[in-house]
Amino acid sequence: MVVTTLKNATLGKLSLRKHIKISDYVSTGTMPIRHFNFNFDAKTFDDKFYLQKEWASAYFYALSIFLTYGEELVIETARYHRDFITDPILKQRVSALIGQEALHSKFHNEYNDIMTEHNFPVKLYRFLAEKVFEYTFLKFPQPLKLSMMAGIEHFTAVVAEYMMKHEDHFYYSDDAKARALWMWHMLEESEHKDIAYDVYQTLSGDYGLRIFGFILAFVTILGGVSLGALLLPFLRKPSNLISVSFWKEAKTSASLLFGYENGVFGSTMGHIADYFRPDFHPNDHDTTAYLNYYKEKLFNPENGALTPFFVKEFTPAVRAA
Ligand SMILES: [Fe+2]
Ligand SMILES: [Fe+2]
Repeated sequence: MVVTTLKNATLGKLSLRKHIKISDYVSTGTMPIRHFNFNFDAKTFDDKFYLQKEWASAYFYALSIFLTYGEELVIETARYHRDFITDPILKQRVSALIGQEALHSKFHNEYNDIMTEHNFPVKLYRFLAEKVFEYTFLKFPQPLKLSMMAGIEHFTAVVAEYMMKHEDHFYYSDDAKARALWMWHMLEESEHKDIAYDVYQTLSGDYGLRIFGFILAFVTILGGVSLGALLLPFLRKPSNLISVSFWKEAKTSASLLFGYENGVFGSTMGHIADYFRPDFHPNDHDTTAYLNYYKEKLFNPENGALTPFFVKEFTPAVRAA
């Protein structure tokens, strides 16, 4: 995907913004919003969805609960800043980002509701997340919210790329609805990974603030969500504390998430830290081939993992500013 250096003439502060890159909207084009009907079901819900490992799976369940709050922050921040965007394609992409995130949040919440029937501490985690967001992140000034939104989207892009490169990890479970939910979400996180960043670089571009927002996102996602995941198996099933089989599996779970060789976060630290580069751009990590492969495969009319749940696709209109 083509990335161009921002035209200084249009933005002022010539020497300070030389390193900034944004997407070339001629090649990125517009973005759609996809609707589904998953109709999640407690009977088919798998409580070890991720590689049949309880603790590793707990990360994804905790993430499923907490991410809806991050998405609300993204939606609110994107809505606020959309009015200041003058490029009609970037504006369209922001509208699509809002739509995609709103639907992620809706369907993850439906999935999370089903988790309560399997004794997951959804109510407690929702309460905690609500308070944290209410008293901290949602009170931040808009420029910091925008920076944090770009940081959150970098993390989701890294996780999405990891998951797209490890397709087999989705197939250790018979829970077809959870598989469809995560594969769709990962596809769209990768698809829209440059939008928040482009908005930030267009409207601000301040390097220090970008890194500060990224560190806040880092602490929240790797600290907060990990803590939630760490405690989740015991809150759900206190007998895990003395379960031999649970502790036997714990080391494997830890390496699946944080292992340097192949863990979701352990093996992607270089990609995560790439965000510190002053001339970083999300599209420096080209995922076009994966996106094309998954769009083809997941929506295949014969046997696509998303086909049974897909309702319709809608592309917001391109409007002049
Ligand atoms: Fe999302
Ligand atoms: Fe996102």
